[in-house]
Amino acid sequence: MNTPIFWRASVLHFLDDPEKGAQSWEYFDDGGLLVESGVIKACGPAEALLEQLPEGCEVRDFSSRLIVPGFIDTHVHYPQLEVMAGCGVQLLDWLEQYTFPAEAQFSNPEYSKEIAELFLDQCLTHGTTTALIFGTVDPQSVDAFFEAAEKRNMRMIAGKVMMDRNAPDYLLDTPESSYEDSKRLIDLWHNKGRLSYAVTPRFAPTSSSEQLAMAGRLLKEHKDLYLHTHLSENSKEIAWVQELFPESDNYLDVYDQHGLLGPRSVFAHSIHLCDQSWNRMAETDSSIACCPGSNLFLGSGLFNFSKAKNNNIRVGLGTDVGGGTSLCLLNTMKDAYQVSQLSENTISPLQAFYLATLGGARALHLDDRIGSFKIGNEADFLVLNPEATPLLKFRTDKTKTLEELLGVLMVMGDDRVIEKAIVMGQETRGKS
Ligand code: GUN
Ligand code: ZN
Repeated sequence: MNTPIFWRASVLHFLDDPEKGAQSWEYFDDGGLLVESGVIKACGPAEALLEQLPEGCEVRDFSSRLIVPGFIDTHVHYPQLEVMAGCGVQLLDWLEQYTFPAEAQFSNPEYSKEIAELFLDQCLTHGTTTALIFGTVDPQSVDAFFEAAEKRNMRMIAGKVMMDRNAPDYLLDTPESSYEDSKRLIDLWHNKGRLSYAVTPRFAPTSSSEQLAMAGRLLKEHKDLYLHTHLSENSKEIAWVQELFPESDNYLDVYDQHGLLGPRSVFAHSIHLCDQSWNRMAETDSSIACCPGSNLFLGSGLFNFSKAKNNNIRVGLGTDVGGGTSLCLLNTMKDAYQVSQLSENTISPLQAFYLATLGGARALHLDDRIGSFKIGNEADFLVLNPEATPLLKFRTDKTKTLEELLGVLMVMGDDRVIEKAIVMGQETRGKS
């Protein structure tokens, strides 16, 4: 069962933000990973490691392939697979027209199970081994999700949407029921194996002050919970929040006043923040899930990478499916790169790969377990095939540096590049 395996291939992982210099990543052109009992035992040059493999170790050779840590999607909605690519509207109309009707179907447990299974298989196909997930307002949508994640032994964080106003009646809960339902889910699932719970008020417009206070209470009452919500995505949304919460200084301040900021709080989007909010994000060590693909698709705006960097904020990448157009973090890296090209702070392909791996793990405070090949980390990783299509082979053959190769993979690559996704040392169904 626990036969050690040596995975021989080119290997890349990050020890720090590559902006800090060449000591921030390790790359072994002919390298390998030694994995035993689901954890990383060694990572380094193949020649040296081959000499000291444990007895009975199996060697799997993936020459011409690149091994990287599994991608981490820091913001995605599993019930929104079916609203992907819903064209013609921006955020608030998109929610009304596409999203709320789709989410209503998750009152059906069978449907929730079917979509949770599909979603997780597709995550693996697209190279995502960990994600921070929105369920729907119905708590059993989250039971169905956690059951499917547990079956696959995937490290996943999810939560039930809290939403008690400004949405169709059929999707509303109350401050009390959202507290009780979340509490039941926390007791059942939080820190069970590789699963964690995120208190998930949808966004300020759909929660009363009483409900946001309940979210704050849950965070106080339980250790290590996440807080996951949307922030400052769209200009009409921001104006609406100001009307609904006239006593707050700004959008982030609404959450702040209810005790929702902190090291395990993840704010999706955060594209139109004032300086006061950037300061407060930094002071409270809150994280941002940057969702450039969704921001382009919904016409929401451009994330400010410079502000995030100057304020030293933890940033991960989020696909935000169904606002986002792909489950593949390679695509999200390309979107992030293209958005950053429009600013004075272009991110490099190395940085994009950092954001999708160790950066995401740091945003979720999971970097002591996943996101890199530190010895003892959980063995979630990908085998990438730079020759997955004739055009990719032609183009990657011409690359001369690692950075160039990563650029081609993120710009021209998609799920066809993800040859294998390994979870806790085990090969997954992969392509399905
Ligand atoms: N803001 C509130 N709900 C949502 C959602 O489902 N998707 C996105 N992109 N933004 C939101
Ligand atoms: Zn979202």
